[in-house]
Amino acid sequence: MTGTAANIGVVGLAVMGANLARNLASREGNTVAVLNRSPERTERLVAEHPEAGFVATFSAEEFAASLSRPRTAIIMVQAGAATDAVIDDLVRVFEPGDIIVDGGNAFFPDTIRRERAVRETGINFVGAGISGGEEGALNGPSIMPGGSEEAWRTLGPILRSIAAVADGEPCVTHIGHDGAGHFVKMVHNGIEYADMQLIAEAYDLIRRGTGKSPAEIADIFAEWNRGELESYLIEITAEVLRQVDAATGRPLVDVILDQAGAKGTGAWTVQTALALGVPVSGIAEATFARSLSSHPEQRAAAAALPGPVAPVSAGADAAETAAFIEDVRQALYASKIVAYSQGFDEIRAGAAEHDWSIDLGAVAKIWRAGCIIRAQFLNRIAEAYAAEAELPLLMSAPYFADALVRGQEAWRRVVVRATVSGIPAPAFSSSLAYYDGLRAERLPAALVQGQRDFFGAHTYRRVDRPGSFHTLWSGDRSEVEA
Ligand code: 6PG
Repeated sequence: MTGTAANIGVVGLAVMGANLARNLASREGNTVAVLNRSPERTERLVAEHPEAGFVATFSAEEFAASLSRPRTAIIMVQAGAATDAVIDDLVRVFEPGDIIVDGGNAFFPDTIRRERAVRETGINFVGAGISGGEEGALNGPSIMPGGSEEAWRTLGPILRSIAAVADGEPCVTHIGHDGAGHFVKMVHNGIEYADMQLIAEAYDLIRRGTGKSPAEIADIFAEWNRGELESYLIEITAEVLRQVDAATGRPLVDVILDQAGAKGTGAWTVQTALALGVPVSGIAEATFARSLSSHPEQRAAAAALPGPVAPVSAGADAAETAAFIEDVRQALYASKIVAYSQGFDEIRAGAAEHDWSIDLGAVAKIWRAGCIIRAQFLNRIAEAYAAEAELPLLMSAPYFADALVRGQEAWRRVVVRATVSGIPAPAFSSSLAYYDGLRAERLPAALVQGQRDFFGAHTYRRVDRPGSFHTLWSGDRSEVEA
């Protein structure tokens, strides 16, 4: 340690932490203290980046001594036990008024628990979602901090200085107290899962439905990226599809094992939504699709099960092929609207449950740059919430409703084609079912209520008068008021 006072520190110097530390150091006025469990990594980072002027420290005590007050430290270690261990270390050497930020992908109930425990000591604890991968951490991520107002006053200017910028605005906002930031980051990841699955289904439908090669489909995605679907995920999809495997000369996508991994944030989004009673069916299908892909033994067992007797084949006709591809584009856009609408619904429900006052328009704005789901589309979401902050259903906002009106016939054709051809499109079809479910005048939920009343006397309400009722199913089947 040099004795220089640092205004911010980073603990955990794996790629994300190292890049975030370099990003912080590159901004005017920042001096960054760094600490890592293994000292070699600290030494390497400091040696490789002399321009950063890092203050290298090798113990929690040294780290604390190097920081000006209020001390501010960002933890970038693996979510779980490692995070708890670092928090314990810092709490030991920090003082009331200091700030500990967890920049990892923590599950928000853990953040709520940690915030409560750390607050007892007078130290501020902030769970901050940070999106954008390695490149974002270095050049400007989208940042979703929770925690107290007091902590935000110190932290705000620092985080604003390193965040991505969209239309002149830094992609960071104080989301709400305790676990609000990690909650919103969790839903961001859930939407990321849905977006990725929808794109993957679009690729599969075009490939199997038209016989086009990955390179040709890369061109289609690149073209789509110039329109309303413009987004980082569409852009990188084109890059992945264009990549050729050096070892075999085949498209890389054909040599990658088709079993998708997951670190858990999609599953958290879905389990949280289930507890909140919010149907995030697109995100759930995307999460389950990864699970389904990762059961080779079951896939092998199912391989002999029959598909459609006469699958619809791709018409050789170029106009027909072009029309189908345009249908897939529209179906993708419509399904994407559903995924975001469901995600924002979950944030709204989470905010109500946990007493967070979350500005949904501000969330859309900070996702416009830096993060994985960054897209043109988010401007439209921000506009929808600016026009009506309490919008009950994002997809019913005029811009999105118009897009659904335009796209719904294509969406239906694509789902029919997928079904008839035996091509799985779970996210496309469940999104369409959600759309049709919400817009239905009557739902068979009435029958479900009747069944519940039959076997469990769970009662039902009537359309024509208030109160709860029960039919005496095993008696004379007359109705009684419950
Ligand atoms: C981000 C990403 C990031 C992580 C993904 C990967 O916002 O920068 O979401 O947090 O790379 O969550 O998650 P899976 O391994 O579960 O796909």
